[in-house]
Amino acid sequence: MEVLCLLAVEEEVAQVVRANLERAFPSWRFETATSAGELKGWAGRNVDVLVLSRFLPGEDPVRLLKKLREFFPVSHVVLLAGAESDAQRAYVRAAKELGFTGIVTGRLPGDRPYTIFEALREVEKELEEERTMEELTPVEIPPVKKERGMLVLVAANKGGVGKTTVAVSLAVALARGGVPVALVDYDFASPDATAFFGLKGTPGVELLAGKPVTGELLRRVLVRARPGVDVLPGPADGAVPPFRAGQVTEITRELLKMYPVVVGDTPAAYVVKPWLKELFGIAEYVLAVVDQSRFSEHNVKSYAAKLLEAGVKPERMGIVLNRFSPRLASPKKVENWFKEALKGRAKAFPMVVAVVPSDWEAHVRCGHKGKVVGLEDPSAPWHRLAERIAAAARHEYRPVKRSFFARLFSKS
Ligand SMILES: Nc1ncnc2c1ncn2[C@@H]1O[C@H](COP(=O)(O)OP(=O)(O)OP(=O)(O)O)[C@@H](O)[C@H]1O
Ligand SMILES: [Mg+2]
Repeated sequence: MEVLCLLAVEEEVAQVVRANLERAFPSWRFETATSAGELKGWAGRNVDVLVLSRFLPGEDPVRLLKKLREFFPVSHVVLLAGAESDAQRAYVRAAKELGFTGIVTGRLPGDRPYTIFEALREVEKELEEERTMEELTPVEIPPVKKERGMLVLVAANKGGVGKTTVAVSLAVALARGGVPVALVDYDFASPDATAFFGLKGTPGVELLAGKPVTGELLRRVLVRARPGVDVLPGPADGAVPPFRAGQVTEITRELLKMYPVVVGDTPAAYVVKPWLKELFGIAEYVLAVVDQSRFSEHNVKSYAAKLLEAGVKPERMGIVLNRFSPRLASPKKVENWFKEALKGRAKAFPMVVAVVPSDWEAHVRCGHKGKVVGLEDPSAPWHRLAERIAAAARHEYRPVKRSFFARLFSKS
């Protein structure tokens, strides 16, 4: 497999660096980005190695470092810090604090012994080790059939890791991008999707238990939480309603006839619930939320295995890293743990599809007011995820910045 190395360096040195590296690493493919804007254009693409210069124009270098993992969660990163100065020292300190280890200092090719060549040779070794695990192919979200909506479930085997945050953020992002969504709270015992929108106590799915499921009945129970986001609340009293066998799936299938995307928030202890196993079986896409601050290697591996047992098809999983901190295990490591756990039991392995930073105090401020943290930021991870899901659901994703009123009064 080819190695793609992106050189994010200033115009003045780009050609020289590229020519020298092409000679030293003849089997790699090199591309260049000579501004921060160009670099961002590469986000979400499969960049194996990223070489980033402190002198890349277009963005404050330390601010760019802080954002880097959101754009390139799994790339190997080599930083070119430049010759010694106060700014260089501050940059190196910030980089180390953020967990970056490949830092080349000095004028190019860098202070010996750790020159850019040495740094990339180290990366090459790491890539080789990763290769040994790569007989599995990465998951692409499979497109749905035209006549039916797409079911996306958000899962986790622990409470409080951010399932509801992910489900709500994704639903709001999709709706604001022009894709109508039904958000279903399958966490019947402790439903909290309505709480997020300030609608706590609204009855929901309990009104359907035992009744024939029709679109008309559903429309009466669904609550419009935001333009384009209709919520099917969990039971207001948190008592699991007396559903017929198969009824939860019936409800879901009916919703899939009504909406291009149905996003479901699921309970944490899923293995024991047969209806949930059914749902996992029909889901197009399952987002496994991993809270980096609370998941160890062992946790991640047993989680991956548990998802398989719960009926989730590995070729339909995506990983969302929540409360991400560059100081903890790298996203690539988390991917590899999934791979190891699924090896021999699956043909595909899930990729990290969104990295949600933890330093968002804003979560506390916005929580329970139905405000999604970071959505105004065009680089927010939700946009890229929503875009991929919309594409699989055969919908265009157009994240527009218009006021709610403007959206309410224009039909398009
Ligand atoms: N990236 C983050 N940074 C800061 N706070 C976060 C982040 N993600 C979630 N939170 C906060 O953590 C708390 C738990 O999140 P959330 O309710 O989404 O988890 P959950 O998995 O749905 O929990 P439960 O198992 O109780 O349903 C919430 O108060 C939420 O605002
Ligand atoms: Mg929840």
